[in-house]
Amino acid sequence: MAIELEPLPLPPSADPSNFLEFGKEVKGVDPGKLSPEELEEIRVLLYKHDALLFRNCELSPEQQYALTKVFDPDTEIYGHGNNKTETAKRSILHPYLKTIPRVPQVQLIGHGTVHDHEGIAVAELQHPSHKNFHQTHLSAEDEAAGFTRFYRWHIDAALYALEPPQVTTLYGISVPQGPKQVVRYEDGTGDELPVSLGTTAFISGRTMFEILPSELKSVAVRARVRYAPHAYEWMSTAGAMTTGLGLETEGKEKPLSELADWKEEDVKVYPVLWKNPVTGALHFEVHPAGVQELFIAPLPAGAKREGALYPDGAHLTDLKELRDLLYKMQRPGIAPSLVYPHDWREKDLVLFHNRGVMHSIVGVFGPGQVRVFHQCNLAASSGPVGPSDEDVLKWA
Ligand SMILES: [Fe+2]
Repeated sequence: MAIELEPLPLPPSADPSNFLEFGKEVKGVDPGKLSPEELEEIRVLLYKHDALLFRNCELSPEQQYALTKVFDPDTEIYGHGNNKTETAKRSILHPYLKTIPRVPQVQLIGHGTVHDHEGIAVAELQHPSHKNFHQTHLSAEDEAAGFTRFYRWHIDAALYALEPPQVTTLYGISVPQGPKQVVRYEDGTGDELPVSLGTTAFISGRTMFEILPSELKSVAVRARVRYAPHAYEWMSTAGAMTTGLGLETEGKEKPLSELADWKEEDVKVYPVLWKNPVTGALHFEVHPAGVQELFIAPLPAGAKREGALYPDGAHLTDLKELRDLLYKMQRPGIAPSLVYPHDWREKDLVLFHNRGVMHSIVGVFGPGQVRVFHQCNLAASSGPVGPSDEDVLKWA
């Protein structure tokens, strides 16, 4: 059968005009048994549409790893390092990832107690809660009434030593059903987003860039961010904003001298905009909670200086200043009408272009609700590519 594409099932909150290219459901093929020609077609489709959904799949960890590897055949290391999640106890990711012994690139994630699963005798899984990351928390009454928050908007990436994966694959095995929940942004806007229980929320990094006013596009196309060494350990002592889009600035980040050993050469500096290898589009890709410094290049020769921000360039090291600037550029892109909250069904497989979207875990599970997912991504064999000289001239 040939590959068929259909639009993703958008919720009423989403403005369809923002999702003309973003996200497709793929029908007509079995993602575990694709021919080399079909794999190449899927590879191109993913970069074109940023998220692909397959429903009713049977997919072993081996098949999931093989599919994920198609996007970067030269790597075999899990995005955070093979088997490292068991030992890297200082990282805030530690409680959430369990490695499948047979295929260490595939992680068991979810919620509740899981027995005898793919060689794991017993696993106590914990769905990340904003209460372990945000500076302020929803009250118990509000949570009981079904309100929740975005946990953390992010790119899947170690942000130190390893390069951000090209693609992440998420396979839903047990998906507890429950009443809808409502995400509150709580940033003074009154924004809310109704979501299914335990949704994964996605936004397009391309849209995040394209909706910016020209003066912020000019900053974005000239900017690079430096991530803190061991960024997840660095942020582990700080509190995130209510939107999950970065940290509050309270001076609570772990001092660099107290982090696990780190080397300057493994610290990551990435462009703010990442160039799509198939479409050439620019995607705003910044994991705001991990950023420690921000560099802005001067305007290129001949660019209009009138109204330009940082026309002579800048090196921002003040966390409050650089976070305010990033938030101004990123917050419009997570508006309710721009979010695709995936309504998970059992045997759903979602492939997402990790270098083209941002995503967030959402929601709260109750006692007895067991969620089982397999997640796979691979530390990339090369770093993201930023804007070309032509892009800079066009947008600066
Ligand atoms: Fe993730």
